[in-house]
Amino acid sequence: MQTPPDYIVLGSGVAGLRAAAELAREGRVVVLTKDRLDESNTEYAQGGVAVAMSDDDEISLHFEDTLNAGAGLCDEKAVRTLVEEGPRYITELIEWGAQFDRQEGALAFTQEAAHSRRRILHAHGDSTGREIVRSLIAHAKKNPNIQLTAHAATVGLIVENERCVGVRFIDPNESLRREMYARAVVLATGGAGQVFAQTTNPSIATGDGMAMAYAAGATMCDLEFAQFHPTALALADAPRFLLSEALRGEGAILRNHAGEAFAKKYDDRGELAPRDIVARAIVAEMERTRERWMYLDLTHLKADFLRQRFPNIFETCLRYGLDLTKDQLPVSPAAHYVMGGVKTDTRGRTTLKGLYAAGEVACTGVHGANRLASNSLLEGLVFGARAGSAAIEDSLPQPNRSEPSPVEFDLSEWRLDQRAKNRVQEVMWLKAGLIRRAEDLRGAVEELSRMAEENVNERTKNFVTLAKLMAEAALWREESRGGHFREDFPARDDQRWRVHSAQQINQPIRAANRISEE
Ligand code: FAD
Ligand code: SIN
Repeated sequence: MQTPPDYIVLGSGVAGLRAAAELAREGRVVVLTKDRLDESNTEYAQGGVAVAMSDDDEISLHFEDTLNAGAGLCDEKAVRTLVEEGPRYITELIEWGAQFDRQEGALAFTQEAAHSRRRILHAHGDSTGREIVRSLIAHAKKNPNIQLTAHAATVGLIVENERCVGVRFIDPNESLRREMYARAVVLATGGAGQVFAQTTNPSIATGDGMAMAYAAGATMCDLEFAQFHPTALALADAPRFLLSEALRGEGAILRNHAGEAFAKKYDDRGELAPRDIVARAIVAEMERTRERWMYLDLTHLKADFLRQRFPNIFETCLRYGLDLTKDQLPVSPAAHYVMGGVKTDTRGRTTLKGLYAAGEVACTGVHGANRLASNSLLEGLVFGARAGSAAIEDSLPQPNRSEPSPVEFDLSEWRLDQRAKNRVQEVMWLKAGLIRRAEDLRGAVEELSRMAEENVNERTKNFVTLAKLMAEAALWREESRGGHFREDFPARDDQRWRVHSAQQINQPIRAANRISEE
């Protein structure tokens, strides 16, 4: 029997690792993560991290661009926190060893859609996330207060007297289920792109933390808002590898099969319109021309520049037989990011005492209805740290108890049922994807409700339930805004719908006016 830690962090992406660094200033922290330490959405982040640090940029411009992308639903307090505190956390990360690309010694900034300035820092060209994870893991490993535990999948939150007091997790190597108690738990389990059949997200992104928090009674917010990235590589039998927005920022052009540049036909901002607009433009052009993909063309850009600036994308495309300096790349949209999640205030406090959330699993309101490109790595740093500091500030002394003995665990209880997973992905992609209609959404909710009643293990039930919540929220919101597009309600309706969705177990979905209150 071991003495429990002071704090538990779930997840080893940018938010979890930054939260751990904060918590370790005050106590002993265990980070539990379900795969390798470096397997996360963060690891695959390409384009970069948005931060107002260049000479011609201003915090107020980053603030405005974020609000504009968020289509009237951002929480201004959360956005102000993000853009004002961002530079401080980036500077700190550089001090901890993160190496962002530089030009003649000065930080190099690139352009992405809907940013009014070149404000995206990047690393190793297009491997920004990997560099951030590398530097944060190295930093954590130097800290004796942090214990990093890989391949430890959390299966549930332990709630006593309406307070989260610990977690149940399994060690697949030993087939044992353990319980661990702590003064506070920080949820940083990332997003849920895997609920859709077409996604840029790796297989870990199954929304476990969202589903566990919901099951434990926490309020979920804005789950109808999913972001579809316009340009994922569209090759049969290949994963939907992301072709970063930074490619368009550096001049890549979208073309149809006749070679025509079409983006400006749909929006004056062309390739650099907000993501939801470009994604729908691609789908509209695919439908108009009865084709299953469009092309991203970089062949007019200098070959040496492309190889140096985008080495990871260049090499990956080559593995699929595509030389981006000569070939046009087939692309179509894929699910990329979930704006909604576990409702928190701007300090990461969820509605369940003892439980904090940060990063993609959380909904602080910072992204509103649509996330501005490259704001989420920054969000992970800023709100990971803030969740850590709030947990320290609020938490009660550890009750005098020890970790109970582990119990034998049947691993089949942990595995996501493949048949159910495939069905959920298909239903969500076809009926609750980029273009939504009431009839399809109603069908999705009915089918997912039936599936949730089937005799499946808890993990599968959680996955189905989360998808159902997302479809329910999409059916509820009878307007189009940001990442949520309803063909049957194509206009934005501020009078009725400038509200957030709130979902809680055993309660009907309801409207909420504000997210963050401190
Ligand atoms: P993640 O980085 O996803 O980490 C979640 C962690 O939780 C993982 O370690 C996972 O294994 C663990 N976990 C999950 N479930 C459990 C469980 N049950 N038990 C224990 N551990 C669990 N954003 C940008 O700002 N800029 C970009 O350039 C950018 N590019 C992107 C490119 C791609 C291909 C993708 C997929 C996303 C990109 N994003 C980008 C989005 C961004 O990467 C993520 O939103 C962000 O990294 C999320 O960080 P996080 O710490 O919240 O979650
Ligand atoms: C990209 O590189 O296009 C992804 C950026 C992001 O998701 O913020």
